[in-house]
Amino acid sequence: MDYKELIARAVEAKQSAYVPYSHFRVGAALLTTSGRIYTGCNVENVSYSATNCAERTAVYKAVSEGERQFTAIAVNGDNKDYLPPCGICRQVLAEFCDLDTFQVILANDEEDYQIVTLDKLLPGAFSIENLKPESFKRKD
Ligand code: THU
Repeated sequence: MDYKELIARAVEAKQSAYVPYSHFRVGAALLTTSGRIYTGCNVENVSYSATNCAERTAVYKAVSEGERQFTAIAVNGDNKDYLPPCGICRQVLAEFCDLDTFQVILANDEEDYQIVTLDKLLPGAFSIENLKPESFKRKD
């Protein structure tokens, strides 16, 4: 698949970033299996921990619109080199995306990007398997 459009949408979404504290803008564009694109930017907060990353903004927008199946996400930040999604965003992506096939496009621009599958970014992910009673140590 040609990811140029997805990357262009991530770069465009970055323009809406609300970053009065870090001054570091991030944009993301999430592709659904049905071919739709949901974009997101980072939205910071004076209570720093309430900040939402661009990737999670895109996922939450999509899920709140009824979408739960995704094939790829493009991420573009204000830094010079590829922006690696933070750990919380990796876990949120893992909630909805197949680790082995979901593609994360770390994009500097439409010509310069790197594609990695989610399993490479989140090896040994905590998953629903870990919550099954048969995997519990406690038996009561
Ligand atoms: N940020 C993202 O939007 N995505 C990431 O994956 C890494 C970090 C944002 C959060 C915060 O607004 C700023 O970048 C600095 O951490």
